[in-house]
Amino acid sequence: MGIKSRAAAAIVVLLLVLGSLWIQGGLDYHWESCLKGYNQGNKFHQLYNSSGAHGVEGPQVLEECPGQTFQVSLLLSHLRAAPAYTSDVLLQPYLSSWDELVRFMEALGPMVGLISKEIESKTSIIRQLALLAEENPEAELGPDVHSLNAENNLEASQHSGAYHSVRSMILVELNQGVVNFHQQTDSGCRTLLRLHRALLWLKLFLEKLAETPVAGRFKSPSELCREAYQNTLANHHTWFVRRAAELAFIAMPERGFFFRLVCVQNQQELSTILKRVVRAIVEVYNRTQKALEENGMLDLP
Ligand SMILES: *[C@@H]1O[C@H](CO)[C@@H](O)[C@H](O)[C@H]1NC(C)=O
Ligand SMILES: *[C@@H]1O[C@H](CO)[C@@H](O)[C@H](O)[C@H]1NC(C)=O
Repeated sequence: MGIKSRAAAAIVVLLLVLGSLWIQGGLDYHWESCLKGYNQGNKFHQLYNSSGAHGVEGPQVLEECPGQTFQVSLLLSHLRAAPAYTSDVLLQPYLSSWDELVRFMEALGPMVGLISKEIESKTSIIRQLALLAEENPEAELGPDVHSLNAENNLEASQHSGAYHSVRSMILVELNQGVVNFHQQTDSGCRTLLRLHRALLWLKLFLEKLAETPVAGRFKSPSELCREAYQNTLANHHTWFVRRAAELAFIAMPERGFFFRLVCVQNQQELSTILKRVVRAIVEVYNRTQKALEENGMLDLP
């Protein structure tokens, strides 16, 4: 079998998986939770009212959106807890943000959920490394710390824990020689890079979902997610993964689903929330980007 026909066979398998999930009621849960969320009524004005004492930004802590597994309020609080010091990102809230983003993807149906499994395996690699480092704290910062470049890395060395932050992880892994610039390994840095690229995709998707067209029609979330993917992650994926991902986006819910997912009633309210999330993501993304860039890690295999 040629590569293309093998890929075609694999796609059929993926569709069968989707089909069987659908048939066996794998989607019921999502419908149920989305209806529940809907029946709870619109809490936007209570949750997100942005006028009054809180100023344009609204309250910094949002309330829970009942009936949903994904909580946009939690996502925001994790994202906002991640930036630290002048240019660092704390790994614990960073990974917690990903936990919430995984719930977001899982809410979008079983196909996008398949992508989120990949993300989960990445977050657990970093968590595993962090646990190991905790068990062997003496191996953390070797004597070469000061020979490493960038004063920002030095800043990181002053905080405790090898996997405390993005910069401390970079510093420790470089120092221990576990980052391979030529071959694929399971280093925290290369794993972070995968998450980092996926974060850009989700950021772009949410940004597009927040946009209100001046004239013309709203594009479907499925279209927007595909566009976001093509502009970001697709550049790093093989032909087969690209096809599979695009299939996943076809099965995505309509815009109304996203209103219910974050407890809002219309596009304007959705935009308000999503723009906040996007701002918080950009802060984290830019800092991570800078740290990876300064250490020549944007292309780790
Ligand atoms: C927000 O709250 C203020 C004061 O509590 C109220 O006057 C205003 O109408 C609310 N705005 C919206 C959009 O619900
Ligand atoms: C993030 O980086 C982009 C691209 O480099 C830049 O345009 C944007 O202003 C930055 N935003 C923040 C909040 O740092």
